[in-house]
Formats: sequence, C-alpha cells, structure tokens
Amino acid sequence: MNSLNEAKIVMANRTSAAATPQVMDYEGSDYQQRFWEQGGRAYEDLAERIALHRLLPPTGQRLVEFGAAFGRLTDLYSGYNQVILLDYSRSLLRQAQQRLGVGGRFIYVAANLYKLPLAPGVADSAVMIRVMHHLADVPAALKQIRRALAPGGTFVVEYANKRHLKSVARHALRRQTWSPYERTPYEFVPLNFDFHPVWMNQQLRTAGFNIGRELAVSHFRLPLLKRLIPAATLAGMDGAVQGVGAYWKLTPSVFVRCTVAGAQVATLPMQLFRCPECQGELLNRGASLDCTTCGLHWPCQDGLYDFKEPVTAAD
Ligand SMILES: C[S@@+](CC[C@H](N)C(=O)[O-])C[C@H]1O[C@@H](n2cnc3c(N)ncnc32)[C@H](O)[C@@H]1O
Ligand SMILES: [Zn+2]
Repeated sequence: MNSLNEAKIVMANRTSAAATPQVMDYEGSDYQQRFWEQGGRAYEDLAERIALHRLLPPTGQRLVEFGAAFGRLTDLYSGYNQVILLDYSRSLLRQAQQRLGVGGRFIYVAANLYKLPLAPGVADSAVMIRVMHHLADVPAALKQIRRALAPGGTFVVEYANKRHLKSVARHALRRQTWSPYERTPYEFVPLNFDFHPVWMNQQLRTAGFNIGRELAVSHFRLPLLKRLIPAATLAGMDGAVQGVGAYWKLTPSVFVRCTVAGAQVATLPMQLFRCPECQGELLNRGASLDCTTCGLHWPCQDGLYDFKEPVTAAD
C-alpha cells in the first residue's frame, strides 16, 4: 500500500525513557476523512472487511486492535464482550470515542506498539491491519503483541506485500531497480515498508505464532477497474479469489490468521494494564494509573488511557 498520501503524518520524536524505533505519527492527521471518506477506497475497505470477517473468530471475551486509529473496523467486533482500541495517535482515538462512546465495551488506549502497556495474556483475539507497513522493527513489535495474547488466542494480521503483480511485472520489464524476490523488507519511503511473504511468516513463527489460513486481498486495486466497476461488485470478486490467490500471493495486501498454542483459557485477566516501562503492576487512582514498581504515573482523561508520556504526581 502506498501511504504517501495516507495522511499528514510525521515521524515521532522519541521522548520516553528507553528509546524505541521511530514511529509514524498520525497525531492530528486527517486520515479518516482524506484517506477513507474522500480517498476513493470503498473497494479496499470492503475487500478487507470480507477477509477480516473470514479470519476472525466471530465471538470472544476480549479483542485488542493494534493501530486501530479511528476504529474503522469496529462493527466487525460485535461478538466480543470487550474491545481495546490501541493506537499511538490520541486524536484518532478521540474520533473513535466520538462515534463509539465512552464507558461501554470499548476501551481506548494511546500507546506505542514497541512498549505495550498490556498485561500478559490479556486478550483472546487481536487484529492489526495497515500498521505493519509502518514498523521499522517487526520482531520487536510482534514480541509485544504475542505477550498480550492468551493461550489458544488468534491474531489476524495484514501486511503490505512487496511481491505483488505490479512489482513483479515492473521488475521483469526492468522498470524497477529493487527485486520483489529479495526477502528483506523494502522501505519505499521513510517508515513505509513492503514485506516478502516468506520473510513475514518467518517473523511470525519466530515470535511464537502458528501460521493458519492466509488470504490475498485487493486483487483489483487498479484505478481503471475501480472507476468502471462498483466497489461492492469488485470487492465481491476479490472475495471470490482471496483464498485461491493466497497460493501465489500477488496482491498488494495479505491477511494471515495466526494462533497461539495451548488450550483457550476460561477467564482472561481482570487487570488490563501493566507499566509500559517496567511491566510493573498499576494502581488505579482515577486520574492516573500509578506503577507500584518504578513509580511512573500514566494519565487517564475522559476515557482515554494514555501510556505515551508519564506525568508527574502533581500533574
Ligand atoms: C494506516 S493507519 C491504519 C489504521 C487502521 N488499522 C485501519 O486499517 O483503518 C496506521 C495506524 O497505525 C498507528 N501506528 C503506527 N505505528 C504505531 C506504533 N508504533 N504504535 C501504535 N500505533 C501505531 C498509527 O497511529 C495509525 O493510526
Ligand atoms: Zn513501572
């Protein structure tokens, strides 16, 4: 996916105690309006919904969406008792809150994927779509995600595929200097990566996931087709070939259902959060969650748990 025009985005400064890889910062961006509502991407949205619907267990106790932004896909989570929407951008999470409300089954968490504030095994399902392509350190992020999942849990993840038909054709015609067959990630602009399917599955396995069903998504992401054929029809056509297309994976986007070994647990942990700096337990003081180990205070304001920057006790 080309995210050059996704939103007005900047690279975040690293301000917290221990440095993490650089983050693509969507704070204050018009991602929802520009990329989705006015961006002519109804086909991609519908095709992704078909794939997610196929791969995600329909019901569960608690789902975390990593990089949930404004909550585009939340209507697909109606079978879950609790849904944690986690994103680095506070402003996008506020947009999600405006639509979905505060105090219900949605929990809003501003945090960095590289330093998750979640308790181990907190969720039985997790989703991450259109986020991997911003990750400079995939193994580090996958390790964090894996820890948040309970035994028997499911992780549905999407990644941008470097070996898609257009890049294969361009490479064959010598119109592209980089090889789609090279396994290492390709950073086409800063903090925007395309991945080789074999490399990605290796990373998922190394992080402790079993690879399950895969779907190749967005076969028809071509401006002419999108102009000529209604989005729902085109998405239906994509849905018809997502499964078989996964054998050769020539699409710009690939979805994978990963699982965690073990029997599903009857009850997930009650405590959702841990200190992102030290993994210490947190004491809920209303306006903040205070770490009982390192003493850092993490603010909670208007239904948004904020683990991006600790505040001092007086704040
Ligand atoms: C292209 S948007 C995708 C949003 C949503 N998943 C969707 O498909 O509509 C990427 C999102 O990932 C978030 N993101 C990127 N890097 C992150 C990180 N290190 N930690 C948490 N969120 C991150 C951004 O804030 C942004 O909301
Ligand atoms: Zn701590």
